[in-house]
Amino acid sequence: MDNKMWAGRFAKQLDHLADDFNSSIHFDARMYRQDIRGSIAHAAMLGACGILDAQDVASITQGLGEILQDLDDGTLTIDMSSEDIHMFIEAELTRRIGDAGRRLHTARSRNDQVALDIRLYLRDEAVEIRKLMLELLEAIVMQAKANTASIMPGYTHLQRAQPVTFAHYMLAYAQMLRRDIGRLDDAVSRMNFSPLGACALAGTTYATDRKMTAQAIGFEDATENSIDSVSDRDFCIELCACFATLMMHLSRLCEEIILWASWEFQFVELDDAYTTGSSIMPQKKNPDLAELIRGKTGRVYGDLITLLTMLKGLPLAYNKDMQEDKEAIFDAVDTVKKCLAVSIPMLETMKTKPESMYRAAQHGFINATDLADYLTKKGVPFRSAYKIVGQIVACCLEKKESLETLPLQTYQSFSPVFEQDLYSEISLETCVAKRISAGGTGPDSVSLQIQRITEYIKNEKNFY
Ligand code: ARG
Repeated sequence: MDNKMWAGRFAKQLDHLADDFNSSIHFDARMYRQDIRGSIAHAAMLGACGILDAQDVASITQGLGEILQDLDDGTLTIDMSSEDIHMFIEAELTRRIGDAGRRLHTARSRNDQVALDIRLYLRDEAVEIRKLMLELLEAIVMQAKANTASIMPGYTHLQRAQPVTFAHYMLAYAQMLRRDIGRLDDAVSRMNFSPLGACALAGTTYATDRKMTAQAIGFEDATENSIDSVSDRDFCIELCACFATLMMHLSRLCEEIILWASWEFQFVELDDAYTTGSSIMPQKKNPDLAELIRGKTGRVYGDLITLLTMLKGLPLAYNKDMQEDKEAIFDAVDTVKKCLAVSIPMLETMKTKPESMYRAAQHGFINATDLADYLTKKGVPFRSAYKIVGQIVACCLEKKESLETLPLQTYQSFSPVFEQDLYSEISLETCVAKRISAGGTGPDSVSLQIQRITEYIKNEKNFY
């Protein structure tokens, strides 16, 4: 165990167990690029403001650049006995360039440094995650486009309710994902302010230029209050809340895929590459990946609760509790990335089985509402029509008939309004085609949805 940078005021070295407990390098090492980027901007600003001389700034910049290179290509390995990544990089810099390295931490504290690094790291990860979300959205829309004529039962209470197309169903998930992307953008826009220069909590006696560093690192501006700057982890919570919502959506989709892939439904078949077998039952083809995504949703919810609880009741400004932010938000980032990465090809390769969907939609009284609408359009008040159709359904159940097969004569015994045309009016195709209201499952609405979401994807891809 080496001497700590803060060792001056202490008579003893930190106990080994305590040191291990206190250290965060095992999980914050992944922010080394962001830490170096922030330090280079900080040094440049110190130079521009006349706080460091040009020579020091040049050797700091060069030294940090070399450290980055060496870490990237593996020539330099991170010393896991360091307290954290910030200390490691500063110590390594000082080892390489001497006193200039010792001057880097002027007008800065680890409190604003770490607040900056996490923001930078999450901003970078958000870009990757956003790309994956768009790819998943594309896969969903691709399934929708291929299934505009695939009629399936829509459910409420998991009971067959009304016929819809598989395209319309998929486009419901497209809307969720579109909102998720909006939420992510929103969270990132609030995250995009630089806390650097807030120092320990109160600012600094040096005449620094915080806007300059903010700009150099691509932030919208510098944060406004130094105490808030080092106390705030709202951006972790917000981002994690976006992820939790996204995972909830993925988990609903995966649950449906699991059901649809079952022998009972057979609405879809997952590709062999995205299913697994059983160690004992030779016939099995299990939707493990979909199940795991559903399962991992709980982790991300847990991460969100960890973050909220960590900050609950925490007095301003920095407290060591806040070191716990990283494992939670990093776990959420990793989990979301992995789940998106497997759900994209799983969705792309998923085969739909329109015949099974159609079969499931037949003979289940799924067109009962349409039969009531038929009567209503011929002048019967909706409530009366509803009652008549209820009686007809009961009669069918008793006679083991369906609405499609019940003879016209029997229909007419319930209401003289029924005519031969009722059969075509309640065909599944008609039921779907006649749902003409905006956002409904009718073909015009579905093609408009496809057109709009396709345009959205195209525009959002240009975002990069
Ligand atoms: N490793 C610390 C963290 O992640 C860095 C900040 C330490 N600041 C301090 N005052 N001890 O939160």
